[in-house]
Amino acid sequence: MAMAKQQHHVVAVPVPAQGHLNPLMRFCKLLAKQQPGIIVTFVDLDFAADAADAPPLAQEHHNPCPAAAAPHSLVRRVRLPSRGVDLSNGFSLSFLEVFHAFLSIAPDLEQLILSLSRHGPPVTCLLSDFNITLPTQDVADKLGIPRIVLYPCCASRLLLTHYLTQGELVSLEEVKEASTATGIEMRKVFCKLAGLPTLRNEDIPHFKHVTDETVSLWINSTKSWQVCATRAHAVVVNSFEDLEASTFATLSKCCNVPIYDVGIWVESLNEESATSLWEEDKGCLAWLDQQPTSSVLYISFGSITILSKTQYEEFLNGLLASKQRFLWVFRAGLVDDIDYSSSVAQIVSESDGKGLVINWAPQQQVLAHPSVGGFFTHCGWNSTSESIANGVPMLCWPYFADQPLNARFIVDEWKVGLRVKCSKENTGLIEKGDIDKVIRALMEGPEGKLVRENATKLKERCGQCSLENGSSYRKLKALMKSLE
Ligand code: UDX
Repeated sequence: MAMAKQQHHVVAVPVPAQGHLNPLMRFCKLLAKQQPGIIVTFVDLDFAADAADAPPLAQEHHNPCPAAAAPHSLVRRVRLPSRGVDLSNGFSLSFLEVFHAFLSIAPDLEQLILSLSRHGPPVTCLLSDFNITLPTQDVADKLGIPRIVLYPCCASRLLLTHYLTQGELVSLEEVKEASTATGIEMRKVFCKLAGLPTLRNEDIPHFKHVTDETVSLWINSTKSWQVCATRAHAVVVNSFEDLEASTFATLSKCCNVPIYDVGIWVESLNEESATSLWEEDKGCLAWLDQQPTSSVLYISFGSITILSKTQYEEFLNGLLASKQRFLWVFRAGLVDDIDYSSSVAQIVSESDGKGLVINWAPQQQVLAHPSVGGFFTHCGWNSTSESIANGVPMLCWPYFADQPLNARFIVDEWKVGLRVKCSKENTGLIEKGDIDKVIRALMEGPEGKLVRENATKLKERCGQCSLENGSSYRKLKALMKSLE
């Protein structure tokens, strides 16, 4: 008699930041749709919870967090309050503090998994974000269950990490000994690294945010990659084969851990996100309905970017000088040291009725709207991939992390965007004239026309990957099979 197939129960652990929650939840939804009966439990790490008030896990995990009432029934959610750390200020903190806080989740996560297994179908797989590798791989190994890694950025960023881990770019000893934190001087950066275009120093990911943590965070990434490469069951990359073909081919050749390119599924982008950390202002869609086709510049710098007041003023003046229609996601905290409400009122009043400013957008719906003709972006990987999936050309103004690398691909490799250039490099400030010029180039100029055509073609190629027998479709099936 044939054995009944084991029912899968996947527990997914995200990094609790917007750019990480979204891709993990989308992947969970894809998994949940693969097989009837597969159970996916999404763990909301609640670092804002007051540790002293947190109820015991056994009671807690049966109560979904408030967001769980939101639309998605395929993926159930449980809340895991963290104990002894307070991340209520989120990512305005040092990233190292954040990573150290992650380390503390291991004992509670282990208890949660044991408890879930006692009260329902046993947990058969742990799925977790690359950036939370160190505690979650330990838990998976201890419990004897396979761990799947979700790599939320592009494959090229992962390959760079691989090269760094191998000492191909610079040795870790040299990194550790770097006395100033001004960034890693990549010894071979002008050399051709297999699977990547020739990269320049300015393309290399850096972590200059609240403070410069480039060196420490590169060390962190290499440690995580060493663990994933040797102990994980598989790595899922949120990108598709056709987009980074030679990178995926090189990664598969040089890594022992299987790599699955399972992104970017338009279908999963179109579902309600259910992971938004801010309330989406859906009223902007009605405003977009009133605007001519391809006339609106959508502006968003993601969830982490902070602009100086001087830079903001130059940006605003350049935007207004360009005389384009715009929809701007101006979240509280985007600009240092300004009065939020009066700044928003000022932008709207000076835009001659051409601009709408909101706190947080339903971004996928905005990018899919026919009135949107361009995306002024910080090039976070989610924004980049959502723009590609919707065929929207980009204006690239990378801020930090993987964004410079993404911008390099958007502009020079895929040719679906233009770069914001600084005319006075010694000041580091992008001036009003630079902003005005690049916006007009995208929205009205021949360069804009070209990248818009390229973006339309790339959208079609992206759509192919998730069709039956497309590359992402096949990889997802193969991943499911590997778990049998
Ligand atoms: C972070 C890093 O900064 C980024 O470089 C990395 O690639 C992922 O993690 P973030 O800066 O927030 O992410 O940018 P991004 O990757 O673009 O993710 C933002 C997410 O928030 C996207 O999925 C986007 O759709 C969503 N979003 C953004 C909204 O839903 N509404 C908005 O108004 C703005």
